[in-house]
Amino acid sequence: MKVLVIGSGGREHAIVWKLKQSPKVTELYCAPGNAGINEIVVGVDIKADDVEGLLKFVKENGIELTVVGPEVPLEKGIVDEFTKEGLLIFGPQKSAARLEHSKIFAKDFMKRNNIPTAAYETFSLNDKAKVYDFISNTNYPLVIKADGLAAGKGVIICGNVDEAIQTVNELFNDKIFGAAGENIVIEQFLTGVEASVFAICDGTDYIVLPASQDHKKIGDDETGKNTGGMGSYSPADRAVNHDVMKKIKQRVIEPVLKYMKSEGNEFKGCLYCGLMIDKSGDPYVIEFNTRFGDPETQVVLPTISSDLAEMFISSANGSIGNYELKLNGNFCCTVVLASNGYPDKYETGKEITGLNEISRDAIVFHAGTKSTADGKILTNGGRVLNVTGISPLGLKEAINIAYHNAVNIDFENKYNRTDIGLKGL
Ligand code: AMP
Ligand code: GLY
Repeated sequence: MKVLVIGSGGREHAIVWKLKQSPKVTELYCAPGNAGINEIVVGVDIKADDVEGLLKFVKENGIELTVVGPEVPLEKGIVDEFTKEGLLIFGPQKSAARLEHSKIFAKDFMKRNNIPTAAYETFSLNDKAKVYDFISNTNYPLVIKADGLAAGKGVIICGNVDEAIQTVNELFNDKIFGAAGENIVIEQFLTGVEASVFAICDGTDYIVLPASQDHKKIGDDETGKNTGGMGSYSPADRAVNHDVMKKIKQRVIEPVLKYMKSEGNEFKGCLYCGLMIDKSGDPYVIEFNTRFGDPETQVVLPTISSDLAEMFISSANGSIGNYELKLNGNFCCTVVLASNGYPDKYETGKEITGLNEISRDAIVFHAGTKSTADGKILTNGGRVLNVTGISPLGLKEAINIAYHNAVNIDFENKYNRTDIGLKGL
């Protein structure tokens, strides 16, 4: 089978790494890929959001399965376009992807269908007076979220009314997120333990993958700015034990599938449940994404022994109930090596060394990298590499492997957190 993966991050590197192991996959392409991805598959020079260009490539090259990594092409309706042409594609249609690209759609959907989430109000730029009135007469902390996609930066936690006023000014007056911030959600601040759970869905049925935990803040001990994710580990079965997982299935995943279908927005693909688990083990939805998480995918896929291509096909063609998920018992931890300055301004184009000195129980998934004509690998983004330790012995060993390898890799202005995975021990 000829397979195309769309995207260029660590998540897509992990997906192609796993798809390479499938006997079903005879030819593997990635658009646009990165230096690490293009070492193991055929890189295709088409941007991830160029739906027309991707469709043309798939038709001209007889691609039999397309796997969408990032959210932007889903919002652009890539799955609708491919499905119209009778092409097999893993991911949700545009109307179902609203669970990610409209926070207001997701919150209203959850409220309507009694799916546990933080209490909230929505406001629009057209009615500024109402929002200033609300934030002046409410309790703190609270969370302000841009309705649309904002590359993981559209969530601001406000500790007091001054911070809330400043945030609303930035969204509504300075328009820091453009149209994505013209409508906002203001919600209750939740406390507890965060976890990410991926359900692979076929519209009606689903399977769940092992839970993971992301580390979203730039600094150790969850301090500083929010990022796309600085590291993760899986399985996160202390946070999501058997009983908690049962509640997540019954209270979140099953009603999502049932009501998305009955409301005419059947959900296929990966439903990413970003959850807060409270003291009693009750899950609350912080957010949905409608694709795999990054960097969670880099630690979840190495724990799976069954065939990933088959999983994607079963999701796309409505037969996930027949797919038998098998796990290999591994523990995984991934540490993001970032460019100093991320998530704000950072420099790129720095040479990366030490990539050939990786131990056999580690994998380096590339995120922001590019190769040069003379064979060098350079930094090309904020998050540069995901150094992933894998061990059958336990999380502690996986963490040690990841950090032991992370120190051997170097580039100018390298930055990483030093506490990834510790909250799972
Ligand atoms: P999101 O992009 O929605 O995942 O939000 C980014 C991060 O903000 C989450 O991982 C949480 O750490 C935090 N967050 C978002 N919503 C809430 C909430 N209602 N209560 C507490 N923390 C939140
Ligand atoms: N790790 C967070 C995300 O993928 O959105």
